[in-house]
Amino acid sequence: MTQPRIPHHVAIVMDGNGRWATRRYLPRVAGHKKGMDTLRACLRHCGERGIKVLTVFAFSSENWSRPADEVSGLMELLAVALAREIPQLRGEGVRVQFVGDRAPLSEKVRAGLAQAEADTASNNRLVFNVCFNYGGRWDIAQAAAKLAERGEPITEKSLGAALALAHVPDPDLIIRTGGEERLSNFLLWQAAYAELFFSERLWPEFDAAALDEALAAYASRERRYGMTSEQVAAPATPADRKAA
Ligand code: IPE
Ligand code: IPE
Ligand code: MG
Repeated sequence: MTQPRIPHHVAIVMDGNGRWATRRYLPRVAGHKKGMDTLRACLRHCGERGIKVLTVFAFSSENWSRPADEVSGLMELLAVALAREIPQLRGEGVRVQFVGDRAPLSEKVRAGLAQAEADTASNNRLVFNVCFNYGGRWDIAQAAAKLAERGEPITEKSLGAALALAHVPDPDLIIRTGGEERLSNFLLWQAAYAELFFSERLWPEFDAAALDEALAAYASRERRYGMTSEQVAAPATPADRKAA
């Protein structure tokens, strides 16, 4: 039996923590805490499946609009995760990268992010991108601003290289949990040719079987990149291209 096609890069909008908590008469932050357990398990499962890059949406540039206690709860969770999880990830060959605007974060958290990245920089089993205070529009704007400042021409290639996720190839599969079918400002540029998978499950309930379901759906898709099905089945040889 041939191995199912595994995506190189999986990106996830981890949505539904609040609803998970509210349904249990718990504060929303309890849902985010539970979501952290799901993420830990999911990262491990991705490694076992041979996925090389996992990118997760942890806090959007729009999430600052939430109630103050929820925002501070999420900041607190980030600080706790930095202290607790990094040594383990380091030992497991995971390279951690934070993606997003760090300027509004506290100096202590910023130092923690930089330390976590430095501690795992030489790992190469799996790249784990955590999008925190991230927005797709922010990313495109900051990339354009960088090029303008350097006086470089703006092309698809130069802009792509100036984006915050330039260290990894574009996602092959984007999963969103929680039943909503939208991107909410996640990876706008990089989503161009990603396969999308929407799960009804709330993020705290997204277990290994649910991830496998998304991977199976991915393996069954045909990625055509603008070509015809026939072309995908029999890619043109250099000789064919010359003849055309
Ligand atoms: C996603 O879960 C996590 C963050 C946005 C930080 P939500 O908190 O959005 O959960 P719902 O959508 O309200 O259920
Ligand atoms: C997207 O979820 C952001 C994260 C998962 C971090 P939201 O819950 O913020 O998205 P909307 O507001 O429902 O679009
Ligand atoms: Mg939500």
